[in-house]
Amino acid sequence: MLITIDEVLTPGEVKSVRDRLERSTWAGGEITAGLQAARAKNNRQLPEDAEHLPALRTLVLTALQRNALFFTAALPARILPPFFNCYEGDGQYYGDHVDGAMRALPEGGYLRADVSATLFLSEPEEYEGGVLTIEDTFGHREIKLRAGDMVVYPSSSVHQVTPVTRGRRLACFMFIQSMIRDAGKRRLLFDMDMALLQLRQSDGETAPLVRLTGVYHNLLRHWAEN
Ligand code: NI
Repeated sequence: MLITIDEVLTPGEVKSVRDRLERSTWAGGEITAGLQAARAKNNRQLPEDAEHLPALRTLVLTALQRNALFFTAALPARILPPFFNCYEGDGQYYGDHVDGAMRALPEGGYLRADVSATLFLSEPEEYEGGVLTIEDTFGHREIKLRAGDMVVYPSSSVHQVTPVTRGRRLACFMFIQSMIRDAGKRRLLFDMDMALLQLRQSDGETAPLVRLTGVYHNLLRHWAEN
């Protein structure tokens, strides 16, 4: 399942993030990639000791917490602290790769990446190329969103960022361990929750809707792992 979520960040938050990124020094992007991914990766990334990184991470994680659509789509158990990257117009790119399954957590241990997300921080007209292309059971998708919008997709998909040939593409990327490991089950729960929301809006809180909402939560109880 691939979904896009509009305005995860407000325009004011996008500006605040970008102001901090403008004042930061970038490092080579291979620092968070495994061996296979590092060979395909030619971009820059905010290093772990960057002065503004803690504030940037807090801002993005706070925005995710208030976003109901993100919650129901990803059903997050844990989120790795977000990363920030930059592709410049001299042809920087990130070739086809699959995101590594296990990611080291800052506090020790590992997070299993089930869901990946890219939050766009540059407007589409600010750069040429830099399209996120994602291949999965849903087919081939090409994603280039407005600043503040986010795409959520399975970490298991093969994806790439095409070369940026003009301008600068800033983005934030994230790895999420879902309470629902199986992508098919996650999809079922998402579809059901969206249908429940529509029914609630059109018909109000009817008795069958209360029962169906119970089924949703009971499925979640059966399947969720933390
Ligand atoms: Ni990736």
